[in-house]
Formats: sequence, structure tokens, C-alpha cells
Amino acid sequence: MSHQLKVSTMVAFQLLFPLLVSCVVASASPPHHLPPCQVVQMDVFCRNLSLKSAPVNLPHGVQMLDLSHNQVQTLTQETLAYYTSFHHLNLHSNKIHFIQPGLFKNMTDLKVLDLSRNHLNVFAVSKINIGPLTAIESLDLSSNGLYTGMSDYFLADSPSLANLSLNSNSITKVAQSTFSGSLSLEKISLHNNIILEIEDGAFDSLNNLTELDLSKNSITCITDFNLYKLKVLNLSKNSIELFQSPRTSHEYDLLQLDLSENKLTYFPLLPRINVIKYLDVSRNQLQSIDTSGSPEKNIRVKLCHLWYLDLSYNQLTTIPESFLPFIRSIEVLNVSNNCIGSFSIANQLQKMKVINLSYNSLQSLIFEKNSLQSLEKLFLQGNHLTTLDHQVLQSLPNIKYLHLQQNNLKICDPQNKEHMHEVMDQNNQAPPSCVSFSSVKNLQFLYLSENNLLTLPANAFANTSLKLLDLSLNPGLDMDKDSLSGLEHSLVHLLLKENNISRLNTDLSALRNLKHVDLSTNQLTSLPRWNKESSIESLNLQNNNLVTLEYSTMLALERSLKTLYMGSNPLSCCKNLGFLHIVQHSAVVVPDIETVTCFHEELSEPVNIETVTREMCHRQSTLNYITVVIVTLLVVMIVLVLLVKCCRSRKRKRNRSFKA
Ligand SMILES: *[C@@H]1O[C@H](CO)[C@@H](O)[C@H](O)[C@H]1NC(C)=O
Ligand SMILES: *[C@@H]1O[C@H](CO)[C@@H](O)[C@H](O)[C@H]1NC(C)=O
Ligand SMILES: *[C@@H]1O[C@H](CO)[C@@H](O)[C@H](O)[C@H]1NC(C)=O
Ligand SMILES: *[C@@H]1O[C@H](CO)[C@@H](O)[C@H](O)[C@H]1NC(C)=O
Ligand SMILES: *[C@@H]1O[C@H](CO)[C@@H](O)[C@H](O)[C@H]1NC(C)=O
Ligand SMILES: *[C@@H]1O[C@H](CO)[C@@H](O)[C@H](O)[C@H]1NC(C)=O
Ligand SMILES: *[C@@H]1O[C@H](CO)[C@@H](O)[C@H](O)[C@H]1NC(C)=O
Ligand SMILES: *[C@@H]1O[C@H](CO)[C@@H](O)[C@H](O)[C@H]1NC(C)=O
Ligand SMILES: *[C@@H]1O[C@H](CO)[C@@H](O)[C@H](O)[C@H]1NC(C)=O
Repeated sequence: MSHQLKVSTMVAFQLLFPLLVSCVVASASPPHHLPPCQVVQMDVFCRNLSLKSAPVNLPHGVQMLDLSHNQVQTLTQETLAYYTSFHHLNLHSNKIHFIQPGLFKNMTDLKVLDLSRNHLNVFAVSKINIGPLTAIESLDLSSNGLYTGMSDYFLADSPSLANLSLNSNSITKVAQSTFSGSLSLEKISLHNNIILEIEDGAFDSLNNLTELDLSKNSITCITDFNLYKLKVLNLSKNSIELFQSPRTSHEYDLLQLDLSENKLTYFPLLPRINVIKYLDVSRNQLQSIDTSGSPEKNIRVKLCHLWYLDLSYNQLTTIPESFLPFIRSIEVLNVSNNCIGSFSIANQLQKMKVINLSYNSLQSLIFEKNSLQSLEKLFLQGNHLTTLDHQVLQSLPNIKYLHLQQNNLKICDPQNKEHMHEVMDQNNQAPPSCVSFSSVKNLQFLYLSENNLLTLPANAFANTSLKLLDLSLNPGLDMDKDSLSGLEHSLVHLLLKENNISRLNTDLSALRNLKHVDLSTNQLTSLPRWNKESSIESLNLQNNNLVTLEYSTMLALERSLKTLYMGSNPLSCCKNLGFLHIVQHSAVVVPDIETVTCFHEELSEPVNIETVTREMCHRQSTLNYITVVIVTLLVVMIVLVLLVKCCRSRKRKRNRSFKA
């Protein structure tokens, strides 16, 4: 059949085949109806079709059958329509509670079997063995309600099994015999069980085991870690209080160790001869990384290959300088969310690229010259820094990202060289009380929000290559008119939100590359000036005091502007017809258009700007015109009447005098 169907394009093949099969089946054997499975060459996809068994009339030699999300209850030769040619069988999310013993014996090509999300605990209760898994290399038994011992009925004879998942079951113990029928295992996942106990030697006979995932269990301690061949060990989300390796000179192959979210109070005692690259001890209860307080005294293990160390979310008060030489090849160090008050690096850590020291209580930071030649990102937000020694930034020739938000910094005035002197005779003088960014050549991203900054002096960022500058949430910030000079060709993002600015002194039109500006939540009454050379693409003016938007500026912006936020301003409806035109006729998107309202003299409530028409304002001006004309006419008439009266009375007077 498939010979006739060598349709040249795959699309046509996919579309036609199910149809044709259905027709052929319908005419040949009327009682059986093949549901619309997708057939692509030797692969058949029957996902979510309420099937109780595999369709008959599958292509001969079918290799892959996806029967996931169906209603299969018993798995027998019959439910698989007597095919044995499968390489890959996916039975995920069915209701299988029985498997015919020996079913997989003759399936000598079956390499991948997915039985996850079924009811195999029901089968295991009957204590029947499913027989040999002759060729199966990858077996998924996750989410089957299996508890301790039940996996034995599936694994007893699985000589080729390399990859096993028992995730999300209810296993409490890994016994010595659990894997004795599956000696080829390379990777075992036991994530999300309730393992409390691992019997001695449970993994010892698995010579090829390289990956073991025991995350999200209830393990409390590992006292004799001796899996020398293991490369990846995940013990995250257990209740581990102690991790200890024996004091042997055996070589370990371990590369990745995840001990995050446990209850370690001491730094883990790692194998002495190791090649560990990745170590995660975040979210534990470490108070010190000194192992000298631990039961095994005075042991310091060198981590010569370590490039990633995560110690965040612990209770560390210090990272002793003596620790750093033990992790000489480190590239990423995360010690954020601890209680570190001062941090210093004197040794050269030539490979260090990222240091995350955010959310500590840092008051002082000292990097010796040349100590961090490769550092690119330094995260210092959420600390108590009032100053940064000039030396610190000067000793970071490659620093690109500097996160300093939520501190208490002041920015030095480059004109006032006093602080420079302080730097020069550092030993005698008090440290400068401000931080100087000028001449930090490679700096591109600088975050200074929430620092209680009051002034931004002229040339504060001269001789840097800043692309992004965040000065938000510094209410009352007084920016010198030249504070951004030097950034004419580099600055792309400027964030000035929530600064209570009523007038911007700084001329933003000089910043030729500026594309994204956030001025939301200020007190602006007029737009910053921009001209035709501007390249602003997104502008946020939400929540200011803007009544009118200068038409010339709007016209200049219209060329490049793509996104404009304007909500929550006391706009006048009729004085912003230019803006209205842009909203209605240009490609500029106003995402908060729903909240852009304006005031119209004739209406008591503000109206949405989209409902304003030119006519509303014309009518008003015509009305005004008429009023003016009427008032003028009235005045003229009154004057005339008065004049006439006046003349008459004079006449009368004259008459009277004449009489007299
Ligand atoms: C199965 O199909 C039904 C509709 O036929 C759909 O509502 C349901 O979300 C599908 N389930 C899955 C897991 O794809
Ligand atoms: C396996 O194959 C043998 C002979 O080829 C056959 O007798 C037996 O019934 C088959 N068993 C299963 C479970 O398919
Ligand atoms: C192991 O099995 C899991 C789950 O079935 C699968 O995601 C993974 O790709 C397999 N890995 C290998 C190396 O076969
Ligand atoms: C372990 O792996 C090697 C090489 O991949 C293989 O030759 C050997 O048979 C495997 N051992 C077991 C017990 O499967
Ligand atoms: C360890 O397991 C946890 C939880 O399943 C997971 O989030 C984490 O990414 C894993 N760690 C590694 C290094 O793969
Ligand atoms: C620690 O910082 C690194 C690098 O900044 C990051 O990749 C990691 O996710 C952080 N750890 C936690 C627990 O957030
Ligand atoms: C720094 O570490 C914290 C966790 O402590 C994490 O949330 C944050 O994302 C990290 N920063 C970066 C940029 O990786
Ligand atoms: C910027 O660099 C130039 C030349 O190197 C120098 O003359 C100038 O003083 C520097 N400006 C600041 C503010 O550091
Ligand atoms: C904002 O500025 C106004 C004066 O322009 C001042 O009265 C007010 O207190 C300031 N608010 C804050 C939060 O600084």
C-alpha cells in the first residue's frame, strides 16, 4: 500500500495518507474504522483520540506509535494490533493497569518506551513481572503511583536500559537490589518522590551511571558519597543537613552538584580530588563557608575546576579572602541575599566574569588592582553603599554592567578634583564620599535608581560608553544641564521615572542615539525639546502634568516614534489637535490609549482623546467667535445709547440755561 503512496511532497503525503487509509479500510473491512491518525512514513500519531487500542492496518514495519492521551487500559499483543516492529512506543497518559507478561520480549527493536501517567501501581500490586525488556534503552515510569519495591516488577530483566525515569512516584527507599536487573543504567531520575533512605551500595554496581537526579525528596544526609563515576548529581529540594565525602585520594568525575534548597549549615565536604565545575548551595542555612566548624575539622578542598558557584540565599556574613584562592578558575559567583557587610578581593581571579552581591548589607567593597581583569557584570543592588572607591571601578577594565540600584550613593563632580586627591593618597585620607563614573571606559549599562540621588553634576559620565542609564526613583534629582554630556553618541536608553521632575534642564536632543526614554510619573508641564535629528522610538510620558504638547516637537518625534505612553495627564482636548492627528493618522502606537483623556471646556468630565474630533473644537471656536461678535455689538450699542443720552441731557441743560 505504501508503495503506491510515494507522494512527492511531504505535506501532500501527510494530508492524503490518513484519508486514503480510511477509505481503503472502510471498503476492505467495514467493521473496523481507522480513526484519523496522522501517518508520516513509518511514524503513526494517534494522540488524544479516545482510543482503547492501537488502530489495525498500521503501515507494515511501523516504527513509532504515539498513543498518548488515550483510554488504553490493558496493554497486550492485541491492543498493539500484533505489531512488534516498534522502535518507539508512547503510551503517556492512558489508564494502563495491566501489561501482558512477556509482551516486550519479542520487540527486539523497541528502544524507547513511555508509560508515564498510567496506573501501573495497580499492576504492581498483583506482583507480576512484565518480563524481559529485551532492547529497551529508555523507560519512563513517572507518575504511576509506584511505591517502594514496585519498580522491581518492571526492571528485573532490563539488560539494555540506560535511561530511567521514576519521577513523581511515592518511593521512600532505594534498596540495594532496586537496580540489580538494569546494570547498563546511565541516567536515573527519581525527582519528586519521598526518598528517605538509600541503602548502602544501591548504585554501586552501576558502572555506567553518570547522572542521578534525586531532587525533591526527603533525604537528610549524605555521609559517604562514593559514586566516583557520577558526573551530575542533583540533590536539590531535600532536607540535607550534612554532605560528606570520604577522605580518600580516589578521583571523582563529578562535574555538577546541585545542593540548593536544603538545610546545610556547613559547606559540603567535597571529594578531595575533584573536577567539579558547577556547585549550587543556594537556599541553605550556611553561616560560614569555613569548614573548620564542621565535624571534620580543618579540611579545605581545592575546587580547581569550579566555574560556577551559587551561595545565594544563605546567612553568610563574610566570604573570607582565604577562600578565593581555592576557586581560582571561577567565572560566576553568586553570593546575593546573604548578610555580607564587606567584601574584598586581593587575589587575581582572572576568569571571573559575573559577581552577584545583590541584597546584602555591603558598606565596603575593595578590589585590588588587576584582581578582576575579566569582570563584565557586577550586581550590587540592595546594599548600604554610600561610596565606591575609585580604585574599584578603575580596576575593572572590562566592566560593562553595573547594578547599583537601592543604595545610598552620591556622584562625584568631575570638576571638583578633591576626591581625586583623596584617591591618590588613599592611605592617609578618608575615602571619598562619592562615586565617580567618568572614565570607566567600557561601562555600558548603569543602574542608579533608588539611591536618594539629589544632584547629577556636569560630565558625570564623560569618557564612558553608556548605552543605558537608569536614574529612576530619585525624587528631587537635580540634573545639571551638562550632566549627560559625553554620551551624545552612545546613550540609547534613559530612565528617569518617578523623579518628581517639573522641568528638564538637560537638552536631550543632543543625544543622537537616544531611542528609549522613560519620563513617567514626574511633574512635567512641557515636553523636552526634540528636533528632526532625534531618533526617539519609545517615549513614556505617563502620569505627568502635561496640558499641551508642542506641535513642533510632536512633528519632530513623529518621524522615528513607534510607541508613546501618554495616560494620566491633564491634557487639553482642543490645544492638542496635532497630537490627535498623530494618534489617529500615524503608525505611532499608544498602548495606554484607554487612559489618555483630555479636558474640553464644554464638558464637565475628561473624555478619551480618541473621541475628540476637530469639529468639537471648531464648533467651539465658531461659538466663541459669535459670542465675541455679540458682546462687541452689545458694547457698541450700549456706548451709542449712552452717547445719545449724554447729548440729549446736554441739550436739555443748554435749554434749561436758556430758560433761566
Ligand atoms: C484532547 O482533545 C480535546 C478535544 O478533542 C481537548 O479539549 C483536550 O484539551 C485535548 N487534550 C490534550 C491533552 O491534548
Ligand atoms: C514471541 O515469538 C515467539 C516465536 O517467534 C512466539 O511463539 C511468541 O508467541 C511470541 N510472544 C509474544 C509475547 O509475542
Ligand atoms: C532519557 O529519558 C528522558 C525521559 O523520557 C528523555 O527526556 C531524555 O531525552 C532521555 N535521554 C537520553 C539520553 O536518552
Ligand atoms: C558501559 O558502557 C560501555 C561503553 O559505553 C559498554 O561497553 C558497557 O557494556 C556498558 N556496561 C554495561 C554494564 O552496560
Ligand atoms: C535539579 O533539580 C531541580 C528541581 O527539579 C531543578 O530545578 C534544577 O534545575 C536541577 N539542577 C540542575 C543543575 O540541573
Ligand atoms: C545567582 O546568580 C547567577 C548569575 O547572576 C544566576 O544565574 C543565578 O540564577 C542566581 N541564583 C539564584 C538562586 O537566583
Ligand atoms: C543575582 O542573584 C539573585 C538571587 O540571589 C537573582 O534573583 C538575580 O537574578 C541574580 N542576578 C542576575 C543578574 O543573575
Ligand atoms: C575625558 O578624557 C579626556 C581625554 O582623555 C580628558 O581630557 C578629560 O578630562 C576626560 N573627562 C573627564 C570628565 O574625565
Ligand atoms: C515634588 O516637588 C514638589 C515641588 O515641585 C514638592 O512640593 C514635593 O514635595 C515633591 N515631592 C517629592 C515626593 O519629593
